[in-house]
Amino acid sequence: MIVIIDFGSQYSELIARRIRETQVYSEVISYRTTAEQLRNLNPKGIILSGGPNSVYDNIAPKCDPEIWHLGIPILGVCYGMQLMVQQLGGKVTRAERAEYGKAALFVDDPTDLLTNVEEGSTMWMSHGDSCNELPEGFEILAHTDNTPCAAIADHEKKLYGVQFHPEVVHSICGLALIRNFVYHICVCEPTWTTATFVEESIREIRGVVGDKRVLLALSGGVDSSTLAFLLYRAIGEQLTCMFIDQGFMRKGEPERLLKLFKEQFHIPVEYVNARDRFLAQLNGIADPEEKRRRIGHEFISVFEEESKRLGPFDYLAQGTLYPDVIESADTNVDPKTGERVAVKIKSHHNVGGLPKDLRFKLVEPLRKLFKDEVRKVGRSIGLPEEIVRRHPFPGPGLAIRIIGEVTAERLNILRDADLVVRQEINRHEVYHDLWQAFAVLLPVRSVGVMGDKRTYAYPIVLRLITSEDGMTADWARVPYDLLEIISNRIVNEVKGVNRVVYDITSKPPGTIEWE
Ligand code: XMP
Repeated sequence: MIVIIDFGSQYSELIARRIRETQVYSEVISYRTTAEQLRNLNPKGIILSGGPNSVYDNIAPKCDPEIWHLGIPILGVCYGMQLMVQQLGGKVTRAERAEYGKAALFVDDPTDLLTNVEEGSTMWMSHGDSCNELPEGFEILAHTDNTPCAAIADHEKKLYGVQFHPEVVHSICGLALIRNFVYHICVCEPTWTTATFVEESIREIRGVVGDKRVLLALSGGVDSSTLAFLLYRAIGEQLTCMFIDQGFMRKGEPERLLKLFKEQFHIPVEYVNARDRFLAQLNGIADPEEKRRRIGHEFISVFEEESKRLGPFDYLAQGTLYPDVIESADTNVDPKTGERVAVKIKSHHNVGGLPKDLRFKLVEPLRKLFKDEVRKVGRSIGLPEEIVRRHPFPGPGLAIRIIGEVTAERLNILRDADLVVRQEINRHEVYHDLWQAFAVLLPVRSVGVMGDKRTYAYPIVLRLITSEDGMTADWARVPYDLLEIISNRIVNEVKGVNRVVYDITSKPPGTIEWE
């Protein structure tokens, strides 16, 4: 394992992902971790992340100075390198010129850390401070026009530093450098693979759960489906998968999910039909936040009732992923027992807390994984591509894609229109170019003409989105012909709709969903 000591860099998580791409396991840990704790973790290498501070700030985070003497190879990145230099007796000062963006790296020592790093190759810089006096035992491995000490090493003690960010994609030979550190300097073996993860997590689940019962709320996405599969392989009938059908899923989805689990995975699923209950909750409600709140509350009520009916359960399985673990740090830990406890159901991040008396212990087999790793595991255990590469779908489902009041009639109209969108997006093979593709129903009506008859019906909004992470997004520049086909089909095939409009708003200022 390689540990990444985090000093508050936006790139710490990215470093961990890059290391894992070399098939070596990596974890991000706090800069407060002591040398003793580090020794117990027994990593083969340590990476010190960048950070927003200057090492000479009073509030600058520092690591335990004993870590330099652990005998474990260390690579400091940006702030991490400056800290290494400062704590070992060198000098860091404000650079004459701050350096942001691309810089050409000139290699002075093409061995060791910089093997296969091409002379003049582009590296990504982001720093206002520079090391201008190296500690004893260190030498310069590379420089840029602006930065004399762009890469440094104390070969004997296996301490390395780079002023640039090898983890970002703009650093052309960054991965080569990371591989040198991981394989040659730390002598790690590429053993972090999907198959070993599946094997190990099955063993771990058995160890933790013993003969106790586990409840899993299945949503049909890649996380909960992968989770169900792992748990069922590990503990069989001790697992209960519960699928709560709120009535807000896309056309045919509940049926497809149940069929997949029954016929392909042979995993039993408790189907809870709560459609009428949810719809009744939304009767007469048009305000988006109130809709979400009611859906959230109803979900908790149904969940509570059904878990009592099917239980008792000792554990709740949650699809927590590694980014959640990094973000929430220790906030979900029960201070008395040290166990992680459920404070919210992740797949419905707007649902709020579970009732206090319903505190399960948690089992979270995916908590070491990044999303792309979950997809790989899902694929390796036979989840179909339609689940593995599925677009995100919001917890409250179609209820927040019907603007204003949700009624059974409007749900049916939206489901049919949404199906046309999905069919055409698939048929034209643009599904994987898009982040999301869906229909929204507006509660207004406009005039149209069909045959010789006047129509007065709802419009459908098409929302086709490209995005990297859902935080920012743009409307997709799909061919006009595709828009035309979708529009024609919806107006002709979906009763109650006589107009289709295309949403050309990016995020920001819009959001992806309409509510
Ligand atoms: P917005 O509309 O905020 O959406 O731009 C960003 C991403 O989050 C999804 N989304 C949700 N997912 N429960 C979820 O699980 C929700 O309540 C929810 N609201 C929005 C949205 O589909 C998009 O991918």
